[in-house]
Amino acid sequence: MRFIREFPIIVALSFLFGLAFTGLVLGPVFASDIAQPSAKLVAYTPIEQAGRHIYVREGCVYCHSQQVRNVKADQNMVDAYGVSKAGDYYYDLPHLLGTSRQGPDLSNEGQVWGKASGDFAREYLIGHFKNPREYNSQSIMPSYSYLSDRELEELTDYVQSLGAWKVTPDPTEAEASS
Ligand code: HEC
Repeated sequence: MRFIREFPIIVALSFLFGLAFTGLVLGPVFASDIAQPSAKLVAYTPIEQAGRHIYVREGCVYCHSQQVRNVKADQNMVDAYGVSKAGDYYYDLPHLLGTSRQGPDLSNEGQVWGKASGDFAREYLIGHFKNPREYNSQSIMPSYSYLSDRELEELTDYVQSLGAWKVTPDPTEAEASS
């Protein structure tokens, strides 16, 4: 009791810290939606993991985000693919949400230029990695032509896996449930 009277600020700060720790750290760690992978999410293949490693190494995250938020600016992506959820990142270590969008968000790139679009999508991605200016003369994206063919293939596999597992929201389903 004497301690409280003599050091009220220390006691108050310790209490606040404990409260913040419980709410901001312990709470989220035990929240079940973080511990569960999103429905249909698939783990990366070894090749995709290798591509992910290149993505980290080359700093793609400094220009590309991987998170769709529930804000007006993201409305088109929200309509097409939904808002990003904690479970979407279940297999991501480190996560690559990013804080800056010098280039487009890539969390659904596997739907935009996915495997379903065949060789054409693959050729576009690899050609674009090698020389972005060939496709967009204004692009500020660096050329990654110094990567080996194998690295470019791995990187492409990774980029094509992003969001490819998502089932595009079915508008009739939304109607039925409302
Ligand atoms: C200096 C910032 C910057 C860096 C670093 C960067 N990008 Fe980009 N990226 C951009 C910009 C700007 C665009 C849009 C213009 C364009 O298409 O080139 C873009 C476009 C793209 C696209 C095409 C999107 C589409 O749908 O057409 C992909 C895929 C991509 N980047 C992947 C990567 C990968 C993978 C890396 C790392 C190896 C990377 N970027 C590094 C800025 C960057």
